[in-house]
Amino acid sequence: MSTTKDIAAKPVGELAIQTLAMPRDTNANGDIFGGWLVSQMDLAAGILTKKVAKGRSATVAIKNVNFLQPVSVGSTVSCYAQITHRGRSSLHIAVEVWISNLSTDNTIKKVADGLFVFVAIGDDGNPRPLPD
Ligand SMILES: CC(C)(COP(=O)(O)OP(=O)(O)OC[C@H]1O[C@@H](n2cnc3c(N)ncnc32)[C@H](O)[C@@H]1OP(=O)(O)O)[C@@H](O)C(=O)NCCC(=O)NCCS
Repeated sequence: MSTTKDIAAKPVGELAIQTLAMPRDTNANGDIFGGWLVSQMDLAAGILTKKVAKGRSATVAIKNVNFLQPVSVGSTVSCYAQITHRGRSSLHIAVEVWISNLSTDNTIKKVADGLFVFVAIGDDGNPRPLPD
């Protein structure tokens, strides 16, 4: 997972979520609130986890989240997710967030990344082994 601001680099992982940054999601500076972005990243990691865990799962840790550039209202926000480690019941998922403003140009830039740890859980809420 790179934290560089290399505009020429491409997203790593599969596109898990694409949405639009809305005015209701802004902070006091008028830019998008970091907590909203983390929530989108968590959802993206959760979607990838569902494909593998085939059942209930929960976020157990969010590590090393970096906000690299501000996000403006109206940006298209794309979250890419990739499994970097598979344990007995846990998955480590690297998430990258890239933005574009499709109404003005076609360039994309990376604005955030982080590592999300999910655990497959059973009906009792305890960890269960990941399926083969
Ligand atoms: C997820 C939960 C069931 C795990 O319970 P636990 O007693 O910590 O389970 P374990 O210690 O057996 O760990 C289970 C797995 O998670 C991993 N894990 C636990 N805490 C971790 C952490 N902070 N960072 C990375 N991995 C972690 C363990 O290494 C283990 O991995 P493995 O099975 O692949 O080897 C429990 O912590 C929980 O319910 N947390 C709340 C989850 C939640 O509600 N999330 C939503 C946000 S509020």
